[in-house]
Amino acid sequence: MSDKHYATVAVTGVTGALGSRIAVRLADRGVPQLLVGRSPDRMPDLPGAQRRGPAGYGDASAMREALEGASTLILVSGHRTGRRLEEHATAVEAAIAVGVDRVLYVSLVGASPTATYLNARDQWLTEQFLAGAGIRHTVLRAGFYTSTPAALADKGFVVSGPASTGRAAFATHEDIADVITAVTLDERPRSEHDGAILEITGPEALTLHEAVTRIATATGRPYRFEPETLEQAFSRRWREGMSGEQIETWISWYQAIEKGEISSVTDVVPRLTGSPATPISDAAWWPSPNTARGTP
Ligand SMILES: NC(=O)c1ccc[n+]([C@@H]2O[C@H](COP(=O)([O-])OP(=O)(O)OC[C@H]3O[C@@H](n4cnc5c(N)ncnc54)[C@H](OP(=O)(O)O)[C@@H]3O)[C@@H](O)[C@H]2O)c1
Repeated sequence: MSDKHYATVAVTGVTGALGSRIAVRLADRGVPQLLVGRSPDRMPDLPGAQRRGPAGYGDASAMREALEGASTLILVSGHRTGRRLEEHATAVEAAIAVGVDRVLYVSLVGASPTATYLNARDQWLTEQFLAGAGIRHTVLRAGFYTSTPAALADKGFVVSGPASTGRAAFATHEDIADVITAVTLDERPRSEHDGAILEITGPEALTLHEAVTRIATATGRPYRFEPETLEQAFSRRWREGMSGEQIETWISWYQAIEKGEISSVTDVVPRLTGSPATPISDAAWWPSPNTARGTP
């Protein structure tokens, strides 16, 4: 813990994988925090942190109450609902209303109105809203998580999808949390991060075959990748009981990899943290098979 006195930071998503890691890092640095979310009883117990809520992003008055007293808001993007832009916009407007003066928004690499991955489209919408909201902000685009291929595997450790030999620069939750922590702790009134879009990636772009083979070596489990055609990808997921929206979303994740939309490698992790980006084989956390959101 440092002797420096930091302004209060509100962190959302703290019942999840990324927000919880950010909150732990800020607590370690002695930053006073407001942990904001829908289920305060599931939030971590951290020194210097108050639990606030219940407050969902779309609940303007609950968000205003929860954010009261914060100087910076770290807004971890919420789950896909079809109204993600409206929910995020409500959260940002609540922050502005109670005097928050900086928003760090956790978006997604590849965010674009024409992104192949459907989740990257509404991330772009929030980025656009933020750019016009009149508040100091930084967009932190998280790379595709190293954990996702492991979570997508079936019970036999097979990851199947229409990604062919396309590549993605998978990033660990730890590196992403480290970068967000570094930006948060930079409290200079004018920082090069203001208005910036930082793309947080791993150190190399891997095919899914390479990524899954490395996960197998790291875990000692028999993960393997089996490429699918689009037709195979659809019919298997339909047989397994996925909804049309889930099928469309997951196929688009693999297709974004096939098209190389997630393949750029940036220097953001080493530049902001002073340490090299973590290779997938050194990731600290592997979720169990069949645990990706929206898998049957
Ligand atoms: N970069 C990638 O590869 C990737 C992959 C998957 C997801 N994502 C995005 O990145 C975000 C963070 O990732 P993660 O691994 O930490 O996901 P996670 O473990 O599912 O955590 C998501 C967190 O966001 C909170 N949340 C979701 N919708 C909310 C809403 N409407 N209002 C308030 N809180 C809400 C959840 O709260 P509850 O506990 O109340 O649900 C949870 O704390 C995800 O929510 C998603 O938008 C990125």
